[in-house]
Amino acid sequence: MTTNTTTRTAIVTGASSGIGRATATALATAGFNVVAIARRADQLDSLTIDSAAITALPLDLTTDGAAAQAVQHTLAAFGRIDVLVNAAGYGANAPSESVPPAEWDRLFAINVNAVAHLTSAALPHLLASARDNQVADVVTISSTAGLSAEPGAAAYSSSKFAVRGLMEAWRKEYASRDIRFCTIYPGAVVTEFGKDQQFIRDWYATMKTQGAVAHPDDVARAVLFAATQPAHASVSELTLRPTRQI
Ligand SMILES: NC(=O)c1ccc[n+]([C@@H]2O[C@H](COP(=O)([O-])OP(=O)(O)OC[C@H]3O[C@@H](n4cnc5c(N)ncnc54)[C@H](OP(=O)(O)O)[C@@H]3O)[C@@H](O)[C@H]2O)c1
Repeated sequence: MTTNTTTRTAIVTGASSGIGRATATALATAGFNVVAIARRADQLDSLTIDSAAITALPLDLTTDGAAAQAVQHTLAAFGRIDVLVNAAGYGANAPSESVPPAEWDRLFAINVNAVAHLTSAALPHLLASARDNQVADVVTISSTAGLSAEPGAAAYSSSKFAVRGLMEAWRKEYASRDIRFCTIYPGAVVTEFGKDQQFIRDWYATMKTQGAVAHPDDVARAVLFAATQPAHASVSELTLRPTRQI
């Protein structure tokens, strides 16, 4: 473990389902205090029932002031921010000529801008925790689509490439002040991802028949791995595919 006896506090976005939910649970089980953020309050409530270490903050991260609200809530609840996990996001797949400007804006608002805004708002407090506790962590969920762009997913792929750029720039900017930045690139993980989109649902169905899907807990373990390295070691990028996904 990286830390002294202080209980570390994590903010986890996208905590109502899938990777974020599994990560909130894994961090709480590992002894972190967790602030769980997403829009669906009922889903967050069921998470807090399972763990006293998790508090819920129902919030649309694309609204004005959301990042400041998330930080203030966390400081009021636990007094510090040691780890930020940016997992909120969604996928879209459509012929590019049919994607209107509003859809580009909606996708970038959560997949990119919310990551930038919340990380920026958390940074002063992450710096304070790093001074106090040797290290602090930001872990962001990109995608294998952020490493290799796919046809029909220009908006989604480019949003996940953007996240990679943000994280690498921040890593270099804050390395000397002991904040670690880890970008995780998952392949196919069975979650609510793409539940409203026939193309994505069909793709997951095919992957399932091939035994080529991972579980949210697999990604949560990767997040925990990155955030619990000794203070001198930084896992800056990690790709996690189902074994059978090519
Ligand atoms: N599943 C995969 O195969 C896969 C692969 C690669 C990367 N990823 C990435 O992994 C991350 C997590 O996705 P997932 O697979 O776990 O899908 P998911 O089950 O659909 O989870 C997405 C989460 O994001 C939250 N969210 C969406 N918009 C939000 C907003 N405006 N404000 C606050 N929260 C918001 C959702 O909660 P509410 O609806 O309650 O707000 C939900 O908790 C995403 O960034 C996704 O791009 C997933």
